[in-house]
Amino acid sequence: MDNGTKKALISSDKKNIWHPFTQMADWIKDDPSVPLIIDGAKGSYLYDADGKKYLDGVSSLWVTLLGHRNPKIDKALKAQIDKMAHSTFLGLTHKPAIELSEKLLKILPSNFKKIFYSDNGSTAVEIALKQAFQYWQTKGQNRRFFLSLRNAYHGDTIGAVSVGGMDLFHAKFRHLLFNSFFAQSPYCYRCRYCKKKMTFPIKAKNFKDHNKKAGCKGECIKEVETILAKKHKEIAAAIIEPLNQASAGMVVMPKGYVKEYANLCKKYGILLICDEVATGFGRTGKMFAVEHENVKPDFMCLSKGITGGYLPFAVTATTNEIYNSFLGKYEEFKTFFHGHSYTANPLACAASIAVIDILTKDKMLKKLQPKIKHLEKELSLLAVHPKVGNIRHCGVMAGIEIVNDKKTRKPYDYKLKTGAKLCAAIRKDGVIIRNLGDTLVLFLHLTMTKKEISKIITAIKKSLQTATL
Ligand SMILES: Cc1ncc(COP(=O)(O)O)c(C=O)c1O
Repeated sequence: MDNGTKKALISSDKKNIWHPFTQMADWIKDDPSVPLIIDGAKGSYLYDADGKKYLDGVSSLWVTLLGHRNPKIDKALKAQIDKMAHSTFLGLTHKPAIELSEKLLKILPSNFKKIFYSDNGSTAVEIALKQAFQYWQTKGQNRRFFLSLRNAYHGDTIGAVSVGGMDLFHAKFRHLLFNSFFAQSPYCYRCRYCKKKMTFPIKAKNFKDHNKKAGCKGECIKEVETILAKKHKEIAAAIIEPLNQASAGMVVMPKGYVKEYANLCKKYGILLICDEVATGFGRTGKMFAVEHENVKPDFMCLSKGITGGYLPFAVTATTNEIYNSFLGKYEEFKTFFHGHSYTANPLACAASIAVIDILTKDKMLKKLQPKIKHLEKELSLLAVHPKVGNIRHCGVMAGIEIVNDKKTRKPYDYKLKTGAKLCAAIRKDGVIIRNLGDTLVLFLHLTMTKKEISKIITAIKKSLQTATL
């Protein structure tokens, strides 16, 4: 792209567009490196308007699952577009949605029997919350509350924000939200009860063993029980991002925590919603995070990787127990009155079918295991750096928390934008990753090679050595 075209595009962007999660006063400053115009993509790489290539270390915000321009997904989409781009799902149906529901139900935990389609992670969560709420109404119970965790992120719509536990994003909107209960996040590195320093990688056998290593008594899960013991009759459901509170900076949960959480939901008779928008479709090393702890929730929310990062799409899966409670005579109004214009978009369904076929037929998850081990080995090399306070790793996801003082765990002043500065330095080396505060986040394509993984870690190492921290 010539310089004139580039300049015109940047000027138009700065004049007309409001970007998500962006301080626009910084964006519109006259810095020629902002914004970077992405003009192409292939495999693990993004290409800018000058043809310079960048390793995409965050799967384009956790959506691209199998690399950019995956030939099998491309082919499926081209075939579908020659048939039909869209048709409403209200009162009509179509083959891609039917075929996809069959494929999803084959790979989901066996208690799941029904698929409700929507178009992004937040709506998948809204639907689960509303279905859980209405379920109790059908039982003649008015359960108005939800249980969630501090540091939780479930999306940006009002219901999803109501169960969100990240004050930075959510506190401003409190007066708009419904009330939820929040238990402590199992964020061991910054937990006041975890007394011992744990070295990366943490190899715990179970939750008890983890707590022994952390020098705590599992106070995080005790808080869940305290809330449930008092309030369970008013709580419709508990929601959790199983294994990893990704948006909190890859807060990986202690082994066994999710199982304990699920057991408490069962003990107190409340529904469980597992938000696998980020963790689903292999990112944890198994198809779904819940499989690691043999948890069978009442709802699963899926999005992001479901179309391989091609189209906005989402699924809320549930059980027959939930679905059947909505059945009744037309005039009883038990219907679930919820839907979106793009519900079950056929193009998105076609892409998702291709994704599931690749994951299941190409033995992707088996091929992934040595790459996950390689990532762990590479991350161990970073753990010794004096500015790396904590490393959290789960499957192809990792968070590297940078601190001002390793001994005291003191963070850098927020104003210094340390994480953002490191990402800018890393980008100069041809690697794109993003920071969440001062945590550097890796969210890798399942198709990334060991060599590419090492390249990302090398770029991070170099940035830590050269940056003035
Ligand atoms: C766990 C989780 N749930 C929900 C969402 C919201 O998804 P979307 O951005 O598609 O609305 C996200 C997005 O990052 C997420 O990580």
